[in-house]
Parts: sequence; structure tokens; C-alpha cells
Amino acid sequence: MKKIVILISGRGSNMEAIIRSLKAEDWPAEIAAVISNTEKAAGLATAENAGIATEVVSRGEFSSRQSYDTMLSEAIDRYAPDLVVLAGFMRILTAEFVRHYEGRIINIHPSLLPAFTGLHTHERAIEAGVRLHGATVHFVTPELDAGPIIAQAVVPVLPDDTEASLAARVLEQEHRLYPRVVRWFVEGKVRFDAGRVRLDDAINTPAEFILTGDFS
Ligand code: GRF
Repeated sequence: MKKIVILISGRGSNMEAIIRSLKAEDWPAEIAAVISNTEKAAGLATAENAGIATEVVSRGEFSSRQSYDTMLSEAIDRYAPDLVVLAGFMRILTAEFVRHYEGRIINIHPSLLPAFTGLHTHERAIEAGVRLHGATVHFVTPELDAGPIIAQAVVPVLPDDTEASLAARVLEQEHRLYPRVVRWFVEGKVRFDAGRVRLDDAINTPAEFILTGDFS
């Protein structure tokens, strides 16, 4: 049984998608805890309702980024997780923190990386006039949004898209993509090997790691 700790800062819809898939498909894993950097995260209630332990490690209590990250990793490590899942966790993590979890920390980013790192990705995709947009799940490395890519989901950008309509189309795919990648990790089908992603042959086909949206 693999142990997972999920970090959130907000609504937690990706977290919820992972909880649902894990329950429905019965993977050899348990979500040991959901940790937030703010008590305002709506996802905390969702996790509690699912019977999962929750914790808030609030940034206000600690002076430096380093001391915050030390407290955070102590909270995480009490659950001895095999995998740390960042699901809308809105903090930039220190290199020391990231290295501590090397190969067992993943993130979902709402763009087709390496395009549109950082914030406001949907607005920027529309402004840039790209025809395809999407989401990326990657291993976390010290450089923001730059870790090795595990899988991506692609959606079209339509002529009348607004930031909200595009965000909703991407989010729908995030909810398919992230649980799938977490499951691969739990089953040992994806791993981090000297800075690169190794995928099991069984999932190493384009149809598996590029999930396409509805292009109709
Ligand atoms: C998602 O768009 C995710 O890609 C990004 O933050 C958002 C989190 O949404 N990292 P939610 O809290 O999972 O609903």
C-alpha cells in the first residue's frame, strides 16, 4: 500500500478527482493526509468529508521561506509518504525542500509546458493566439514549472473562448489526467531516473500519455 500526501491551497478539485478515482478503481494506495498552507482552502472540507486527515501549515507563523518549508516537510514526513502530490499548492518551494522529495513529488500545471510557466496561463494562451492548450503533469524540480514532463492533456482553443471557458475545458482534462498519472506512479509504471522520466512500456504509447479533449 503506497501512501500519498496531497498539498492544496484552494478549491481542491484535482485532489477530489484523485480521491474519487482511488476509491472507484481501488488502487494499492491510500491518501494519508491533505495539507494546506491556508485554512481558507475549500478543499480541506472536501477531504474531511472523505474521511482523510487534514492539516494546515500556515505561512503566517514562520518568518523565512526556509523555516516554513522545514515545518512543512516535517508535517509531510510524519505520514511517511511514497508520493507528494501538489494540487494547486500556491507556494514556491525552496530547492532544499524539492530535493528532499526528489523523484516522489509531482505537480499539475495548467498549460502545455514549457509554454506558459507561472500564472494566468489561460489568458496568456488566448493572447498568444495558440490553437492548442492543455495541462501538464511533471516531476517537481527546483526550477519552477520546469521538471521532467510525465504526461499532457491537450484541448483546442476556440475562437470565442474567454479565460473562463478555456480554463473550464482544461480543468475537465486535468481531472482525467492527474488521477491517471498518480495511479501509474503508485503502480510503479512511472519513475524519475537521473532527471528523466521512465515510463513502463505498457503506457509508453501516445494514446496513453497525450489525452485529447473534445475537438468536435
Ligand atoms: C489547477 O488549474 C492546477 O492545474 C493548478 O492550480 C489549479 C488548482 O485547481 N496548479 P484545484 O484546486 O485542483 O481545483
